[in-house]
Amino acid sequence: MSESAAPNLLIEHAAELLTMRSDAPDRIGRVVGGSVLIAGEHIVAEGDAAEVERRVDRRTCQVIDARGKVVMPGFVDCHTHLIFGGSRVEEYAAKVAGLGTAPLAKAGIPVGITGTMSATRALSVEQLVEQARPRLAEMLSMGTTTVESKSGYGLTTESELRMLRANRELARLQPIEIASTFLGAHALPPDQPRERYVRSVVEEMIPLVAEEGLAEFCDAFCEEGYFTLEETRQVLEAGRAHGLRPKLHLDQYSHTGAARLAAELPCVSVDHLNFTPAHEVRLLAEAGVVGVVMAAIDFAVAHPRPIAARELLAEGLTLGIATDLCPGCWLTSMQFVIALACRLQGMPVTEAIRAATLGGAMAIGRQDRIGSLEPGKQADLLILDVERHEELAYRLGRNAVETVVKRGRIIVERAV
Ligand code: NIG
Ligand code: FE
Repeated sequence: MSESAAPNLLIEHAAELLTMRSDAPDRIGRVVGGSVLIAGEHIVAEGDAAEVERRVDRRTCQVIDARGKVVMPGFVDCHTHLIFGGSRVEEYAAKVAGLGTAPLAKAGIPVGITGTMSATRALSVEQLVEQARPRLAEMLSMGTTTVESKSGYGLTTESELRMLRANRELARLQPIEIASTFLGAHALPPDQPRERYVRSVVEEMIPLVAEEGLAEFCDAFCEEGYFTLEETRQVLEAGRAHGLRPKLHLDQYSHTGAARLAAELPCVSVDHLNFTPAHEVRLLAEAGVVGVVMAAIDFAVAHPRPIAARELLAEGLTLGIATDLCPGCWLTSMQFVIALACRLQGMPVTEAIRAATLGGAMAIGRQDRIGSLEPGKQADLLILDVERHEELAYRLGRNAVETVVKRGRIIVERAV
């Protein structure tokens, strides 16, 4: 549909309008009783209801009364492994029961990233799309309007390309916007010598991904047992040379020292940060790199050292928060991550909500277009059935999202 097909929309008198303006002193740009005016796909005016009212022609405008509700930007889930084959439910059940995974492996039940690799390699683009699509539908109903989605379970040229083509197909089929990331360096496939695999990522996959325009970012998992610092540099530099902006899974299970590389390149974002020391966090902050913290993966793997988000904030690092949806952490709700980030990672509620919107947009380089409600920005926003933003952290495991607006159109309307 063309831009002019979307009607003008006025959402007025919100109990709290959270604009998330980047310079907001309270971090969330809260306006009590505020309104937002949308024309076509974009925001025209926001803020004080009387001010916005002056711009409105009620004859050509759909009006939503948001009294008693919170109105805020759509969630930007800036780190997911949305596309994958199968499930690892047996592995999760064994782990929560305190059992090892050896009996599963012996019984031929896939475990870990390489287990998902086998299930993913077996699927066509259409089958990958079919499995990922309900996950996206869940995400949308819970207020996610933009998702970053990584490859990394194919680990062959053909299968990695299929994962990225599935991203492109999903972006066409449903309303959530998708930022595509090539993560060929997610794990070493057990069926190839490591040098040969790294060479294929650098010399074969990256050029093909770039040629087909399949990804915007190139990511790598720098970790003991995965990719070394030197291999990570090779991959991210090759990606950059082909126009893919670098990202990094950094220090999730050990201190790797890759923060210096991330600051030098610089990476758009560095994600996890469980073992990154304060002086390296400062380097990242100075280089303008966004840190992405994911409380749910720490929860799902019972991480011995959960990410200390409050300490990262204290070092001046800009943060995004994300679900890390993957077979090891099957989570589609940004509201659940906000609750975890506040309680388990010590994030003030305002910081968590900012990280779930504007911070996420910054982690995928889209802050000029999404992440806050400001004139000229894309109209991606939510109406919540609660009166105060703190309820997002307080009421656990429920969906507060009543209405989702994407590019100016009402996409979800839930009776509550
Ligand atoms: O972001 N760190 C590596 N990758 C994922 C986990 C992947 C999986 O368990 O399948 C992560 O945590
Ligand atoms: Fe990840």
